[in-house]
Amino acid sequence: MGSVRFFVILVRKPLYFGAVSSHYLGMLDKSEKPTIFVTRRWPEAAEAALKRHFTPTFNPDDVPLTAAQIAAGFASHDAIAPTVSDIITAEIIAAGKAGKGRLIANFGVGVNHIDLDAAGSAGIAVSNTPGVLTDATADLALTLILMVSRRAGEGERELRSGGWEGWRPTHLMGRSLRDKTLGIIGMGRIGKAVAHRAAMGFGMKVIFFNRSPVTDITDYPAEQVADVDSLCESSDFISLHCAASPDTFHIVNATRLQLMRKDAYLINTARGDVVDEVALAAALAAGTIGGAGLDVFQGEPVIHPDILAAPNTVLLPHLGSATVEARTAMGLKVVANAEAFFAGKDLIDPVI
Ligand code: DGY
Repeated sequence: MGSVRFFVILVRKPLYFGAVSSHYLGMLDKSEKPTIFVTRRWPEAAEAALKRHFTPTFNPDDVPLTAAQIAAGFASHDAIAPTVSDIITAEIIAAGKAGKGRLIANFGVGVNHIDLDAAGSAGIAVSNTPGVLTDATADLALTLILMVSRRAGEGERELRSGGWEGWRPTHLMGRSLRDKTLGIIGMGRIGKAVAHRAAMGFGMKVIFFNRSPVTDITDYPAEQVADVDSLCESSDFISLHCAASPDTFHIVNATRLQLMRKDAYLINTARGDVVDEVALAAALAAGTIGGAGLDVFQGEPVIHPDILAAPNTVLLPHLGSATVEARTAMGLKVVANAEAFFAGKDLIDPVI
């Protein structure tokens, strides 16, 4: 396990049977807590809750694990609790299935890092943590919208580098949000929370693209548009809130960046895969869009050098759900889902 110090707990011999949790429950010795392999550190209260209900193996140094370490962890535990930074491949799932692993209880709502087809074919259950990170992520999207529109990143860099020459009427003028059009791609929980904040808090006009009709927005005007292209043409800010999937891969591509207004901003708190970063870097360099506020990246934590170099960007290290409240609630949701599974009940947040 390299430099990682693990507390290896093998409480019983591997069990070989299907993933239906009620069958699984029948095979458990009721006096034993199920074992769960946790790939990264969690907030204290969430780790404590996990310990009450399970026999967890933690990663005390919080270092990213290799695929081999994750596979070995899943194979030797009843469940694994990975996060977005762990790529759960078909090979890892097969290793888990061949050993004790029966449940992938993801710490996070996005599950594009898990091979769901492989999990489905192997009969491995998968859960996630929707709902509890909606506010935190929506707040961060607004943070980025405000930072790019008010040039906060540029201002901070100027001040810290000693380049601020004092107040002057034309210094780093940004744009007001009032009456500007916010175009939202993906009007799920987080998209709606962003729209609500933008419309009710900042007087923005909201338009959105969503595959299915959205009819439950009553507090503020919001127009559903028929296609992504027209949203790109009409928006002052485009904020991405769709899940990463083959359908949304590079949904913002070179063509759509070309459709954006010259002073429009792209905001991404969803997943790096939904934006063609090479095309974005080119658009930023050519000045065909106003700028971008990005919290997620295709190869994170590695960032495209041209995006790093672009002055008209605000770049954050995937902080969308990074509040103590949200991250604790995410851990508690993993616990609740795993508890339900090992009690033979339906998952609370089933992915498959
Ligand atoms: C989520 O839950 O999807 C967050 O981005 C962290 O993975």
